[in-house]
Amino acid sequence: MRVIIEQDYDSMSKKAAGFVAEIVRNKPDCVLGLATGSTPIGLYKELIRMHKEEGLDFARVTTFNLDEYYGLAPAHDQSYHYFMHDNLFNYINVLPAKINVPSGTAPDVNGACAHYEEMIEEAGGIDIQVLGIGGDGHIAFNEPGSSLASRTHLVTLDEGTIKDNARFFEKEEDVPHLAITMGVGTSLEAQKCLVLVNGAKKANIIAEAVEGPITSQITSSALQMHPDTVVIVDEEASTAFKRREFYLHSEKILAELLKK
Ligand code: F6R
Repeated sequence: MRVIIEQDYDSMSKKAAGFVAEIVRNKPDCVLGLATGSTPIGLYKELIRMHKEEGLDFARVTTFNLDEYYGLAPAHDQSYHYFMHDNLFNYINVLPAKINVPSGTAPDVNGACAHYEEMIEEAGGIDIQVLGIGGDGHIAFNEPGSSLASRTHLVTLDEGTIKDNARFFEKEEDVPHLAITMGVGTSLEAQKCLVLVNGAKKANIIAEAVEGPITSQITSSALQMHPDTVVIVDEEASTAFKRREFYLHSEKILAELLKK
């Protein structure tokens, strides 16, 4: 895994936007895998800026979101459908028909999950998957113990995740206990994975995910098996890496090489 340490949230977000924008420019009909939560908001702000000021064009881009709370309709202000429109889609020129978020209200859950996987395949697969990680090391909503080969499925959220996400709801009891999520195996099939992590609270878990053993107890550790994962962290989230100095050194050498 390539680990990039940026000074703060802002530079982490800008660095991440550079990776996404490069793919959008080189492949205008690319497929973006997107995440919700606090972490990627700065990335989305920067993509909106690039669209408005630099003409970054999303007209032919297709998007697939990682997950959705089960039981929340798209219009619910805590649904991930709503979040994505509010933080990105309403401000760029992506076509509504090319936006995909798992349905939180499909009566046939298994059928809807299988169909989501088919749609990703029909779109040609995901070119770049943006990921955040949870306090328990989850990617998407693949909680500890999820199969590392899992595909899109219905999951029960961990107590810790419910508590973490309660900050977005009026009260903790309002947080849904179920969600539809892409599986770990789904993310592992993306051409590139871009993991964003900020804040001191996540320093230990990202160090375990990157440098510890691969385990279903920390589903983000499965990304060690992915051939092209880039982890971008801010200073605060970088403090527990054993090989922190090496990551800094390696990026410095890469930057010098690219200058030549
Ligand atoms: C969101 C998602 C989750 C979050 C993770 C971190 O679509 O799949 O895995 O990325 O819970 O959330 P934040 O960024 O709010 O700390």
